[in-house]
Amino acid sequence: MSIRISVSENKIRVLHWTKTEQEMVMTKHNIPEGEHESQVDIQGVEIGLMLPDQFHYEWIGQQDVMDQLLAAWFVLDEHDMPLNPRLVGKPGVGKTTLACAAAKRLDKDVYIYQCTMDTRPEDLLITPVIDKTGGIRYVASSLVTAMIRGGVCILDEANRMSEKSWASLAPLLDTRRYIESIVAGLKVNAHPEFRICVTMNDDASTYEIPEYIHSRIQPQIFLDFPEAEEERRILRENLPFIEEHIMDYVVNFLQKAHAANANFTVRDGINIARYAAKRIQYLKAGNQYEGLMRQAVVMTLGEEALDYLP
Ligand SMILES: Nc1ncnc2c1ncn2[C@@H]1O[C@H](COP(=O)(O)OP(=O)(O)OP(=O)(O)O)[C@@H](O)[C@H]1O
Ligand SMILES: [Mg+2]
Repeated sequence: MSIRISVSENKIRVLHWTKTEQEMVMTKHNIPEGEHESQVDIQGVEIGLMLPDQFHYEWIGQQDVMDQLLAAWFVLDEHDMPLNPRLVGKPGVGKTTLACAAAKRLDKDVYIYQCTMDTRPEDLLITPVIDKTGGIRYVASSLVTAMIRGGVCILDEANRMSEKSWASLAPLLDTRRYIESIVAGLKVNAHPEFRICVTMNDDASTYEIPEYIHSRIQPQIFLDFPEAEEERRILRENLPFIEEHIMDYVVNFLQKAHAANANFTVRDGINIARYAAKRIQYLKAGNQYEGLMRQAVVMTLGEEALDYLP
């Protein structure tokens, strides 16, 4: 396999990537500074590409799960290949954030594909759309864009997808590392730098993952609630403008909830702190702090959360 990339004045990029049977030629024309190319030519078919997601937060604490993910993506030598880990844990515990932050540590673009019950195989791969002239144009999903660019794809909340959609990913997730788009009549190989992980939530609106897919999305990385000090730093990272006593209240609340194994996570804490701070400021009511904090908890999580007030 050989890869050749040439960039000249940020205007034209030609990337030849020859892989035993397949040759992909991608051409970029007149790209304005700071933007990504939006069209590539694969085996004579023009394909529109997605832009990567922007991600600005740092991953705080829990170094073990970050190391587990980076090790799964690590490639030992040219005969090795990356694993396709699945990140599991309660909603709001930090799965998507961890995957984005890991991509950032590898200095790779990240492409998030939000899976739903309605996701069809062609949505995951390449979709035909009508162009301005009434002709057909093909557009790659964020997953296929990441495959072509050598970025990171996060299949977010992947167990909301049906088996039919998973089936289209089987060759990508084993040693073949390609997808077949029936719609565009194309087979697209993943760039060697391409990495993928899936995140999963355990709730009522999810499907069972078929066994042959389950064995392809390994290892399983479990995210647990953070310790108090880590939780405080996460809140600070997300809400740098919020007063310390609001922060203390929310961290104490969350830690009490975690100790009882309640389903409240740092995302709930961020929402409570943000709303409480807005109301205190808006009403200019710093003297009603206790009452407004309590209301912010109830309005965010309901009466059942009152058991864990600090
Ligand atoms: N270790 C961490 N470092 C920085 N931010 C974190 C961390 N853990 C959680 N967060 C913050 O918590 C919030 C929820 O995280 P995230 O959206 O990644 O959770 P999730 O597990 O993907 O949730 P869902 O299952 O609902 O998709 C985000 O605002 C994120 O920034
Ligand atoms: Mg998520």
